[in-house]
Amino acid sequence: MSEPALVALRGASFAYEDGPTVLSGLDFAIHEGRALALLGRNGSGKTTLMRLLSGGLRPREGRLTLEGRPVGYDRKGLTRLRTTVQLVVQDPDDQLFAASVSQDVSFGPLNLGLPDAEVRARVDEALAALDITALADRPTHLLSYGQRKRTAIAGAVAMRPRVLILDEPTAGLDPDGQERLLATLAGLRATGTTVVMATHDVDLALRWADDAALLTPSGAHTGPTAEMLARTDLLGQAGLRLPWGVPAARLLRANGLLAEDAAGPRTAEDLAAFAGAVAPPHG
Ligand SMILES: Nc1ncnc2c1ncn2[C@@H]1O[C@H](COP(=O)(O)OP(=O)(O)OP(=O)(O)O)[C@@H](O)[C@H]1O
Ligand SMILES: [Mg+2]
Repeated sequence: MSEPALVALRGASFAYEDGPTVLSGLDFAIHEGRALALLGRNGSGKTTLMRLLSGGLRPREGRLTLEGRPVGYDRKGLTRLRTTVQLVVQDPDDQLFAASVSQDVSFGPLNLGLPDAEVRARVDEALAALDITALADRPTHLLSYGQRKRTAIAGAVAMRPRVLILDEPTAGLDPDGQERLLATLAGLRATGTTVVMATHDVDLALRWADDAALLTPSGAHTGPTAEMLARTDLLGQAGLRLPWGVPAARLLRANGLLAEDAAGPRTAEDLAAFAGAVAPPHG
């Protein structure tokens, strides 16, 4: 048998007070080392699912497990969960509250009761990872949106979680900001952090994620990204369009430019490289 998922929900149901059922009998797993994109319509329950996975909400039925062991919702159980899983909410203004960037980023480690030197080391490391060391002493309310977003992520990174869950992290970032964030996430992944992100951007999901989970009325459908995002039936249920990389890969294969088992183009630059292979030589 394979190892248990790092974090999993089994048969989870959830409804907000006085609200309709958002998730019902849901099975969902995060596997260590696999970059996972979570997609689905507005209101399909992505944010709710992320809050269940990070312990901010508790399932009405079913259970949450860490490496196969049920999570307890007492202080000890939640501390164990929060040192493993960190959620970064979509709006940084819902997360930031301290006066300065470094104070905000140090809040989580301080709360764990770590010694000052350890807290400082973690804050320095997180600021460097997010490329905001120069902003350390800046008041958070004077930062740009993208800078606030990076600060919120740094706060989660300072907890050195094994799983970092990001709710629509690229929303509101300019193209360069998106690229820098992807580079940051690649750096975190290289040091062993498992990253999960909710996004509405199918092209980004195809490019970035190993696995995609599509949240539909019939539950979460998870599998390798290129396979899942070629399933027009599921895309329709999840209110998503086809990412351009899927037909591009088909076209390349049909023309013998891409092996059947090779990965398709993930970026416009990848596709340009294929175009270069077929373009007539310059005179
Ligand atoms: N605090 C809350 N109280 C009551 N209902 C809520 C609350 N938060 C979300 N809901 C409802 O739960 C459902 C799922 O919302 P959720 O925010 O999880 O969706 P989502 O997939 O993240 O959507 P989006 O793509 O718009 O971010 C929606 O019908 C929403 O109205
Ligand atoms: Mg949401």
